[in-house]
Amino acid sequence: MASSTHPVQVRRVLTSTPLARQHERSLERGLARKHPRIPFEKFDRAKYPRAALALAHHAQTKLALGEYTAVDLFAHIASAMTLNGVPFDLVAAASSIPHDEIRHADYAMQAARALAGTDPKIEFDAALLRKQWEKPVGIEELDFSMIEVSAVGETLSCALLSACRERAKDPMLQALFAGIVSDEVHHARLGWYYFAWRAPQWSQAERQRVADRVGSLVVGIERRFWHGRDAPPAARKAARALGVLESTGQREAVRCVMEDEIIPALDALGLGSSHAWRIRRRGG
Ligand SMILES: [Fe+2]
Ligand SMILES: [Fe+2]
Repeated sequence: MASSTHPVQVRRVLTSTPLARQHERSLERGLARKHPRIPFEKFDRAKYPRAALALAHHAQTKLALGEYTAVDLFAHIASAMTLNGVPFDLVAAASSIPHDEIRHADYAMQAARALAGTDPKIEFDAALLRKQWEKPVGIEELDFSMIEVSAVGETLSCALLSACRERAKDPMLQALFAGIVSDEVHHARLGWYYFAWRAPQWSQAERQRVADRVGSLVVGIERRFWHGRDAPPAARKAARALGVLESTGQREAVRCVMEDEIIPALDALGLGSSHAWRIRRRGG
């Protein structure tokens, strides 16, 4: 049976109510703790070759898409935490994350607009997103979502966005990556804190079921991130200045964070993930 799809297109639209001003202020406040505001209006397209702008625009629209759909993921995670009665501090941390993610989506949409000179549009299949949450999420499903989305997903995302930040010389993109990374660090930590609470309660059988699912996640990671965005030689320096991550740099960032942080942490939870990493599907 053909599965039904539900394509949704999203542009950066705000209401004409006072809430819009409040939202704009929260975009600035969200960064105010450590970071300067992102100077979207100062971005000068004329300084960069078209090929570099196109790659950076593609990267920012994909980032916006990931951040926007992360609102849905963390909202469901916060809901599942509530329904499974997990400790209050975990619920509190999880339920603040959707707000960060919509701010991140907003930053990336604004950066995409500055890079292309036109309003970006992102598109996703809502039916596919909904499918993940069709069944009631018991504690074991929550365990796996926390591994996939928070502990592994957000730790990887920190490493990739940090690599973009290291490359970016442009003030708009530098401020954008620095601001987003400083939040993603907390989203990743939530995952590891969750397991510091949860893993000691696992029975042998529960631990094994989580380990099996984590194993199949880990074997596919290298291949999933094998291709970055490679600019033609004449635009390479400019693409880098816009924080575009090339394939070799992306592979290196993924390998380092997997081997230095993620795999040792999963092993410490008794999930035996270094075996899965050794036999991973190789990229290329
Ligand atoms: Fe984010
Ligand atoms: Fe995040």
